[in-house]
Amino acid sequence: MAVAVLAAAGASAQAPAQPTTRPRPPPAAGLPTDAELQSAMQRAYTANKGVTEGKNADYIPALAKVDPNLFGIAILTVDGRVFSIGDTGQAFSIQSISKPFVAAKLMSEMGIQQVEEKLGVNATGEAFNSIEAIERNKEAKDPPTGNPLVNAGAIAAVGNLKAANADARWSSVLDTLGAFAGRNLVMDQEIYKSEAATNTRNRSIADLLKAYEVIPGNPAEALDVYTRQCSVAVNVKDLAMMGATLATGGVNPLTGKRVVSPDVAERTLALMMTAGLYEDSGAWAFEVGVPAKSGVGGGIVAVVPGKYAVAAFSPRLDEAGNSVRAQKAIDSIVGELGGSVFRVAQRPSPGPTRR
Ligand code: DON
Repeated sequence: MAVAVLAAAGASAQAPAQPTTRPRPPPAAGLPTDAELQSAMQRAYTANKGVTEGKNADYIPALAKVDPNLFGIAILTVDGRVFSIGDTGQAFSIQSISKPFVAAKLMSEMGIQQVEEKLGVNATGEAFNSIEAIERNKEAKDPPTGNPLVNAGAIAAVGNLKAANADARWSSVLDTLGAFAGRNLVMDQEIYKSEAATNTRNRSIADLLKAYEVIPGNPAEALDVYTRQCSVAVNVKDLAMMGATLATGGVNPLTGKRVVSPDVAERTLALMMTAGLYEDSGAWAFEVGVPAKSGVGGGIVAVVPGKYAVAAFSPRLDEAGNSVRAQKAIDSIVGELGGSVFRVAQRPSPGPTRR
């Protein structure tokens, strides 16, 4: 399997994956080199291609039909270098990976503190579609939604975006995801229809949030836009680009456009660290040590702030709804490159103190 590398200047995320022939400048100080990134990615791909643990999500019938053997990885550095391997052009539904980016949009519109007060920022410790967590938070007088990365918080985030009608709400979400990805994205109609026909649990959540006055408008409209949001089609390079836009502090590394403020990017990464892999977020922080977000479509994006984002896709999920291969691949890459945000760089020993 050839490893593809794109030069930053003028390259688009969708450009054919050809090795560049132009001389490339060395990476900025502190960033991994091309060779380090390529070999870490190649090793993660080869080591995990044979992993067959887990199974496709099937509570959304269309997801059960996706080829479980698909596997792709992409890395995008803050200085715009792109590396990818495997099924990198394969489109899949973004699902919950959309949630932090819509939360970022809401923080930009409503204010960071207002989102904290209204939707919450604490881990629920429960499954992403828990109704019990809503009730428990309500009783504790915390925001019933928990945080914007579980279904309750994400549906409420959509319902709180500024929009005059359903079309404007959907455009706001789609434009936000596109700005992070650096290209116009579209919805996968089959996934949308499949999810919209079966999302009875999310309907209950939306109605409950209306009863608890967290969604100001029509809860069915918020839910429909949320379902569309989860059905947006992306590939691993799109996800890596979205993550890299957070890694830079809010500027898309290839378009050069500021998408969110550094403050909003920082808080979005904090949400991902707290709740990005649902009830397994603590174990992920402990073992891998970087903010990340998973989706039941099989994607995960992880961010090493100030350095790079790495995205992986493979449909077989563990019990918590996180892709098994994607977790292993990202763990391997971040571990090999020493990317944990909790790791202190070793300084040379100062030697014995002289008097
Ligand atoms: O609302 C749902 O259940 C899905 N559209 C998204 C869930 C999801 O991706 C959770 N991820 N791990």
